[in-house]
Amino acid sequence: LNIYSDSQSFAGKTVLITAGPTYEAIDPVRFIGNHSSGKMGFAIAEAAAARGAQVILISGPTSLQTGHERIQLIRITSAQEMYDQVFRFYDTVDVAIASAAVADYAPANVAAQKIKKSDSHLTIELIKNPDILAEMGLRKNNQFLVGFALETENEEENARGKLERKNLDMIVLNSLSDAGAGFGKDTNLVKFITSDGITEFGLKSKQAVAADILEFVQQGTLK
Ligand code: CTP
Ligand code: CA
Repeated sequence: LNIYSDSQSFAGKTVLITAGPTYEAIDPVRFIGNHSSGKMGFAIAEAAAARGAQVILISGPTSLQTGHERIQLIRITSAQEMYDQVFRFYDTVDVAIASAAVADYAPANVAAQKIKKSDSHLTIELIKNPDILAEMGLRKNNQFLVGFALETENEEENARGKLERKNLDMIVLNSLSDAGAGFGKDTNLVKFITSDGITEFGLKSKQAVAADILEFVQQGTLK
């Protein structure tokens, strides 16, 4: 498989991708976030655009850039902002791929001023963020829906549970069990799970993983 494929297998298709972390404000200068780099989502966006797709890339804070003319990059900060942008477009897309590391919780109240330290501990109340991917599953009309999962125990069972609960067509299970895979790295170790079964891959570049994902999506949408 040529990862720099110039075959226009996604010509005429619109692909929506979420990428990167979300930042949930605590006060004007602080937030709750995570170490997602956005590399996987940007790699999928580049690969889809290279195959002819029109791409809507909705990304949390990341230093990554993209220059492809068919990638519309929308930068957001919080999970709620990502949610709002996703559902501006979702009804009209052919494929949606949720690679973002969305914060599960956000502070219940954002302090208007920088929180001053006091003599004792600080408690921040958190409320649950909307599950963007689960909502995409609920609102699915004809989209091919791909999720990601990162598990530290019962990996396949938990990922399969997400596939079913969120009404996905495919889930990409990221394995942490390799030093070269995951957050901030340039490589990933993944398994793809569909209702047909499970496919395991070796450690590869995020570009090569992106190519594998699109290959599966293309096969899946032909069914
Ligand atoms: N996701 C999302 N919105 C959220 C949380 C997760 O869209 N609020 C998406 C992620 O982009 C990913 C998938 O759901 O594609 C699974 O995310 P993950 O964090 O592994 O699962 P959760 O459902 O949040 O469950 P948990 O963190 O408890 O394992
Ligand atoms: Ca989560």
